[in-house]
Amino acid sequence: MTSGLKLGQTDISIGKIAYGCWRFAQRDVATADRLIRTALDAGMNLIDTADIYGFSEFPDREDKGFGQAEVRLGEVLAAAPSLRKQMVLTTKGGIDAVRPYDSSYRYIMAAMDASLARLQTDYVDLYQIHRPDLSTPLRETARALNEIFQSGKARHIGVSNFTVAQTRALQSHLDTPIVTLQPEFSAIQQDAITDGTLDYGMETGATVLAWSPLGGGRLPTKDGAVQAALDEIALRYGISRSVAALAFTRAHGADVVPIIGTQTPQRITESGYAAQINLTGREFYDIVEAYRGQSMP
Ligand SMILES: NC(=O)c1ccc[n+]([C@@H]2O[C@H](COP(=O)([O-])OP(=O)(O)OC[C@H]3O[C@@H](n4cnc5c(N)ncnc54)[C@H](OP(=O)(O)O)[C@@H]3O)[C@@H](O)[C@H]2O)c1
Repeated sequence: MTSGLKLGQTDISIGKIAYGCWRFAQRDVATADRLIRTALDAGMNLIDTADIYGFSEFPDREDKGFGQAEVRLGEVLAAAPSLRKQMVLTTKGGIDAVRPYDSSYRYIMAAMDASLARLQTDYVDLYQIHRPDLSTPLRETARALNEIFQSGKARHIGVSNFTVAQTRALQSHLDTPIVTLQPEFSAIQQDAITDGTLDYGMETGATVLAWSPLGGGRLPTKDGAVQAALDEIALRYGISRSVAALAFTRAHGADVVPIIGTQTPQRITESGYAAQINLTGREFYDIVEAYRGQSMP
């Protein structure tokens, strides 16, 4: 079901749409299993999670739910080990609920091991630093990531919410290429077009993974100029506004892979259709212009 895209500069095949587990922590294992299988069946073999997912959702637990989304995914994998081989498993670390960001050597080394334990696996295909930690030298973070890469605990390294300058600085200390960038990017959050993130992906070959490609639900449920422009495209193709929104993220030249987060199996399957929809350049610019409130110069 995967279709021609590679994970960054690697030979690992990934689907054009990815599935994310941010909203996963409160699912029971059977539901989580169904969501993962539905995503894999729809060609979404890159499965994204993070150690922080679930935090604050369990006020009665001492850890407040830190790690619970990984725990749920780990339970799914333990019950059905064959799923592990079908997926490109990626997690993230570096958000410590208090500090709030910690990418020190000591923290990241421990976070990696804790994630692997919760996921009940020996390695992840990709480990991403979740947010830049301004208080740690990037050289130190790189030391941890180099060891994690060399030990095989993560096959590849990526970053999320980094500026291009931060990414470049981290890269300069790494022994292995940064294979993914993970900015927020959608029809209603287009900063990645202008802040250089998508261009850096094209420069280096890193895959751009777009988080909250439906604006975390604001695109399907609210109205505005961008939504109206998406509705016109949706009508033309006979698709939903959500599928049009995912097609928009794919229409940029950087081969962006949107990470969807719905907890509804039917919506996962429907989102998969976006992999077949190739907007025209004019349609892409219609959404950019609706977002900017003016025509292209
Ligand atoms: N790196 C980062 O900092 C970062 C931050 C946030 C997220 N992420 C990643 O990105 C993934 C996706 O984020 P996201 O969940 O915000 O993505 P999203 O796909 O933009 O939004 C998902 C939300 O939209 C709702 N939704 C989808 N289709 C809908 C429809 N037709 N009508 C009404 N509501 C609809 C879903 O509700 P239902 O469940 O009811 O369908 C869900 O609450 C996460 O799982 C995570 O892996 C990364």
